[in-house]
Amino acid sequence: MTDIPFRVGVLGAGQIAQAAHFPACRKSKDVELYAICDAADDLRDRMTLVHQPTTSFDDYDKMLADENVDAVVVAVADQFHVPLAVRALDAGKHVLVEKPMGVTVEEAEDLVAAQQRNDRVVLVGHEKRYDPGIAFAHDFIQDEIGELIGLKHWYCDSTYRYAFTDTVQPLIEHSAAPRRPSGDPKANRQRYYVLGHGSHLLDTARYLGGPITALRARLSTKAGTFCWFVEAEYENGCLGQFDLTLAVRMDWWEGFQVYGSEGSVVGKVHNPWYLKTAEVQAFSAKDDQFHQPIGADANVFRLQIEDLAAAARTGSTPRGATAVDGLASVRAMVALARSVESGDWVRLADVEGGV
Ligand SMILES: NC(=O)c1ccc[n+]([C@@H]2O[C@H](COP(=O)([O-])OP(=O)(O)OC[C@H]3O[C@@H](n4cnc5c(N)ncnc54)[C@H](O)[C@@H]3O)[C@@H](O)[C@H]2O)c1
Repeated sequence: MTDIPFRVGVLGAGQIAQAAHFPACRKSKDVELYAICDAADDLRDRMTLVHQPTTSFDDYDKMLADENVDAVVVAVADQFHVPLAVRALDAGKHVLVEKPMGVTVEEAEDLVAAQQRNDRVVLVGHEKRYDPGIAFAHDFIQDEIGELIGLKHWYCDSTYRYAFTDTVQPLIEHSAAPRRPSGDPKANRQRYYVLGHGSHLLDTARYLGGPITALRARLSTKAGTFCWFVEAEYENGCLGQFDLTLAVRMDWWEGFQVYGSEGSVVGKVHNPWYLKTAEVQAFSAKDDQFHQPIGADANVFRLQIEDLAAAARTGSTPRGATAVDGLASVRAMVALARSVESGDWVRLADVEGGV
């Protein structure tokens, strides 16, 4: 890293920017919150007062024209991600685009093409990869437990989640007129939950187990709950079993069990807003020992923007999800949706369209 900070312009001053990206940039020693851009004057003005960026913009093209901006964080509604991220890449910026990377396979492919055409770094906001427990599990699985046999992963939101996220997040300010896509993205709950939460589950499942080739999913909507039980086939022959449930009548419940020929890894993951390291126990048959990481620094959003800065400046391989990973997660979400409709196995390579 040089002494000159990596200058970030954040597009969108809504909930995720306020709870994650503004504080992450400001807390980082490597990164400067250089610009805030939002078309909503009321919110942009308030966030500029609070977070004191060097400059602010009401228009995205003006921010992209500023040559001091090294990277753009695309923190707007899902449907806007790909077109706005592509414009940033074509303007020569590196990009952190919120998850899900896109809402259709075709537009996600466009973003991969734009990344390759411009040779810039693209990371997708799958911040769980920076949880020190999950990162440790990933590395231990790669290095210590041999051939993968089976992987179970569950992601169950809690009916009480707003009671605790409202407690730990900063008070979120809202605009009277935010720029949003037409229609109500929450109207189709099935689609909304797969994009919002399924994207996290599928990225973590890929991060731990490797590429997924096919899925077969069932959905129960009893009692207002959306409960997907999913069988997965990994490229390496590992059997996968996932549970995505919105919401369980209990506390947040997320975790994984991974069985290998030379060991195993189990983990309990906390709600991301606690910024608390997952509790992971990893057993290696090589030394007959359990290994348990602790992680004092679990500020996943700060680690994420620092990963982008390091990859952009030094060419280091990012820990985070790349555009290719983002496309794979979009394919997995679409496969999940198609499989619920047909009841059959769906190969990720064959899917097209949206969730
Ligand atoms: N990583 C996570 O865990 C996580 C958690 C929550 C939300 N998200 C994601 O973050 C994204 C944003 O969610 P949010 O709730 O903050 O959205 P939001 O709609 O509340 O805020 C987006 C802001 O961007 C502005 N905006 C949109 N398009 C613009 C444009 N072209 N030019 C200028 N300003 C523009 C809007 O005026 C709005 O203020 C979503 O994709 C969501 O899925 C991620």
